[in-house]
Amino acid sequence: MVDQLLGLLSFLCWSLLIVSTYGYMTPPVPFPSSLEKLVPNPTGEVEYVKSSVYGVVDKAVILDCGPSTLMPDIYIWSFTKPGSQEIKNVVYNLGRGQKMQTLASTLGQVTVISNTASLSIEQLKLAAHGVFTCQAIYDTSTEARFVYYYVYLTVQVPVSKPYLQVSELSPVEGSKVSMYCNLENGTGPIQYEWHHENMNGSVTVFGQGNSSLVDVSNINRNNTGWYRCRVQNPVNSEQSDRTWLSIIFGPDVPQIDVTPFTMTERGYSALERETVSLLCQAQSNPPSQYVWLYNNSQVFGGPQYTITKILRMHTGDYTCLAQNTYLNTRSKKSISLTVYYPPDGLPTCSAEGTAEHTYLRLLCVWPGGFPSPSLIWSGELVNQEGVNTNTNTATLLYSQGTATNNSLFKCQGSHVALKQPTGCSVQPYSPAGEPQCSAYVTSNNQNLMLSCSWDGGFPKALVWWVGPGVQGNGGQEASNILILRYGMVRSEQPYVCHARHPLVAQTKTCTVPLEPPVLRTERRTVTVFEGTDVQLTCSLMDNNLPSKEITWFNNRGVSVMATSKYLLLRSSAWANLTVRDTDETQDSGQYICTTSNAVGLTEANVTLVVKRHPMPPNASLVSVMYNSHQRNQVDLEWQVLNEEDYKGGWTGFKLEYSWLSEKPGRKGGTNGSGIVPEKIAHIWYSSIVEDPDLRTHTLGSLTPTVTYQFRVTSINYRTLGYPSAPKTPAEPRQNSLPAIIGAAIGGMLFAAIVTALLLMFIIRNRNNNPRLHDLLFGRQHSQSRENINFPEDEVMGSEGGIEDIGGLSSSAGPSMALPRAASPLTAPSQSATSSTGQPPSAEPVDDGNEPVNVTITVKAT
Ligand SMILES: *[C@@H]1O[C@H](CO)[C@@H](O)[C@H](O)[C@H]1NC(C)=O
Ligand SMILES: *[C@@H]1O[C@H](CO)[C@@H](O)[C@H](O)[C@H]1NC(C)=O
Ligand SMILES: *[C@@H]1O[C@H](CO)[C@@H](O)[C@H](O)[C@H]1NC(C)=O
Ligand SMILES: *[C@@H]1O[C@H](CO)[C@@H](O)[C@H](O)[C@H]1NC(C)=O
Ligand SMILES: *[C@@H]1O[C@H](CO)[C@@H](O)[C@H](O)[C@H]1NC(C)=O
Ligand SMILES: *[C@@H]1O[C@H](CO)[C@@H](O)[C@H](O)[C@H]1NC(C)=O
Ligand SMILES: *[C@@H]1O[C@H](CO)[C@@H](O)[C@H](O)[C@H]1NC(C)=O
Ligand SMILES: *[C@@H]1O[C@H](CO)[C@@H](O)[C@H](O)[C@H]1NC(C)=O
Ligand SMILES: *[C@@H]1O[C@H](CO)[C@@H](O)[C@H](O)[C@H]1NC(C)=O
Ligand SMILES: *[C@@H]1O[C@H](CO)[C@@H](O)[C@H](O)[C@H]1NC(C)=O
Repeated sequence: MVDQLLGLLSFLCWSLLIVSTYGYMTPPVPFPSSLEKLVPNPTGEVEYVKSSVYGVVDKAVILDCGPSTLMPDIYIWSFTKPGSQEIKNVVYNLGRGQKMQTLASTLGQVTVISNTASLSIEQLKLAAHGVFTCQAIYDTSTEARFVYYYVYLTVQVPVSKPYLQVSELSPVEGSKVSMYCNLENGTGPIQYEWHHENMNGSVTVFGQGNSSLVDVSNINRNNTGWYRCRVQNPVNSEQSDRTWLSIIFGPDVPQIDVTPFTMTERGYSALERETVSLLCQAQSNPPSQYVWLYNNSQVFGGPQYTITKILRMHTGDYTCLAQNTYLNTRSKKSISLTVYYPPDGLPTCSAEGTAEHTYLRLLCVWPGGFPSPSLIWSGELVNQEGVNTNTNTATLLYSQGTATNNSLFKCQGSHVALKQPTGCSVQPYSPAGEPQCSAYVTSNNQNLMLSCSWDGGFPKALVWWVGPGVQGNGGQEASNILILRYGMVRSEQPYVCHARHPLVAQTKTCTVPLEPPVLRTERRTVTVFEGTDVQLTCSLMDNNLPSKEITWFNNRGVSVMATSKYLLLRSSAWANLTVRDTDETQDSGQYICTTSNAVGLTEANVTLVVKRHPMPPNASLVSVMYNSHQRNQVDLEWQVLNEEDYKGGWTGFKLEYSWLSEKPGRKGGTNGSGIVPEKIAHIWYSSIVEDPDLRTHTLGSLTPTVTYQFRVTSINYRTLGYPSAPKTPAEPRQNSLPAIIGAAIGGMLFAAIVTALLLMFIIRNRNNNPRLHDLLFGRQHSQSRENINFPEDEVMGSEGGIEDIGGLSSSAGPSMALPRAASPLTAPSQSATSSTGQPPSAEPVDDGNEPVNVTITVKAT
């Protein structure tokens, strides 16, 4: 008992010593391995063994007092709080069973494990944190050993569930966000881990360490998502609930999507009439509000602006305006949209000459459209010298004569806004034939116009004139007229027309020869017989230059007018002069026809020879006898001398009578002396019979008292033969004619004589007074043109050169014979000589031997 007390006493003393020596909460020291087997301590020194044990609140822990296999005979468990120097007993066993102290209950459910001195503490309390000291005494057979076991118990607390605190749940991009991981319980060291789960659900750890606070500076939209923190200590780990962090940002610069998407260097493009959709997207939180502007004026609100059937007028700038209403921030983006539209209509193809037609240029034109259409020539494109395509026009160039005639060139036009290409074609061709030159004058003869034309062809040919004094009047298409002053035309150098077509290699020419006109007469000399009408013709030879009207000058050099003498018919090419009733002396001579053109004057002459008919044969009277005693009618009978020598060379006979004397006492015409006055005696009254075969004839209307003489002359048209010797009529065998009748006839005859004298005057002066002549005798002439035999014709057959006018009578038609009657003197005659027995025309006796050169012809009515 005493020993035990002593031991306890010393134990306490040592305990105090230990505590003062080592202090509290020295780092745990592992148990020395030498404690594993109890080795006798011969020196009697107390041994000290230290160890550390970790326990967790509410859990159990075992504190060993020495090796568990070695039960001490006496032990004393004490407890010292950290920071305290008090040592308090928990339980002891001095050999008489264990004694649990009340202190133990503050440490947990403390028990001593049976058969050991180890303490088991269940439901460990935090208060159990401290130093447990087990003083153990082992009583062996030799000696007792005394050991102090220091057990350093560390009581740990598990981490509780943390919760996350974020300084701003909707931070603006770029700002700083602080996150704090709140933890109530848990002993350290505590590790923190920061987790971020993005919208896709992938989790990243973005921070780790011993700090419960994390600052995210310059936060951005990628930081949007779920956040949680995780804590860990040696006992356990816990994580917080997740917290959503929404980053406010934007709007960004919008992105514009155009459908259909067509991008050009100018920007976006669209085809007219298609539907275009403009979609605007600007990243923003909260989402953007959108507004569309066209040329800076608002046209639509919303992200997608759709234009159905876009038109060319919709070309312009489109701006998308995005707004973040939370931040009241904006952004915008503009695009330029061009609406493409095709040109109107179809391309047109044409061909033209350029550089004075030394080049053929083919043009394909298609105006309008945006962008410009594409034009491509196709066809037989050999030899072409140039292709040029600029906006809306494509040209092809060929130098003169290199392109093929009639070849087809096609031009294809295409445009982005058209599904099908369209086109046109052109087929140039050259004019046929050669250029034609001609000339004409203006109506007033002021100008000569040279015309040149080379028509047809596509394009038209270029035509121009070259000549003296022509100052390049420039080329004209297809035809060109050169106007020259009428008198200024020069003929030494020609006027040449040049005609050029780009499809023809050579430039063609034609010219108008500038020459005076050429007139032609059918014959140089025209010979006709007296009394006929003759036509002189004068015709213009072909000449390129127009001439003035042809003028005739008669044999006296007088310009011929249409008169009773002359008939003038003319056209532009000829002038026919008919000389009527030709007369040997008046009408023979040279006739000149003349005309002129711009270059000069020309004339042609015709010599008209009017011939008399050949003299007919002599005739002689066989018998002349009164056929009654009234002595007013005479039967004549005659014969033709040497008839066989004149084969038909006469056309009739002229029967004449004249007064020889009058019986005294008769009146009328005489001065009563019975002697015929000289003047009257020399007047031959004639009557013509137009029958060459006739040999007898009866003349009437004679004055019974007068003595007549008769004669006969053969006639050939107007030419008279020699008159026969005159004869006085023989008395009839009976004479029973009443004298009264004779006297009456004598009176009538006197009146006739006076009339005859008047008529003779008129006839001799007919050229001086033609109207009177015409009035009395009419104008009818025999138209004997067809019957004229021209001397030239005869010359061909006979050499003599002397015109032989044979065969005239045979060809003479009856039309000419009949009107050759005599004087109208006998118009009132009632005699039986109705056909041929017209009263004779008076004629001077002196002329009796000569053929008369004036014959009066009248129309027989
Ligand atoms: C922390 O520990 C105290 C005392 O042990 C306890 O009352 C409390 O519930 C614990 N907190 C948590 C979150 O576990
Ligand atoms: C989410 O996923 C999509 C598609 O897999 C990807 O394009 C996008 O970048 C992801 N976002 C993040 C924040 O990882
Ligand atoms: C936290 O850890 C850092 C190094 O990681 C260390 O320097 C610091 O002392 C620790 N802080 C605490 C309270 O343990
Ligand atoms: C967000 O993340 C994407 C992809 O990971 C990256 O390309 C982009 O630059 C990030 N944005 C910011 C603002 O950091
Ligand atoms: C819009 O702007 C474009 C380009 O400046 C211009 O060509 C177009 O005519 C404008 N449209 C209207 C309707 O003003
Ligand atoms: C070219 O063609 C046209 C039309 O077919 C024709 O009239 C002309 O004569 C031709 N020219 C040549 C030089 O063949
Ligand atoms: C005039 O003469 C020409 C040439 O001889 C002739 O062709 C033409 O028919 C004549 N005209 C008349 C009306 O006789
Ligand atoms: C008539 O014509 C001939 C032949 O051409 C010519 O020799 C003659 O001189 C002319 N006469 C006149 C008067 O012109
Ligand atoms: C015709 O008569 C004339 C005059 O009496 C005479 O001179 C002439 O010789 C005659 N002719 C013939 C052929 O007898
Ligand atoms: C009649 O004429 C004759 C001859 O001329 C003339 O001698 C005579 O005197 C005239 N008698 C009368 C009456 O006139």
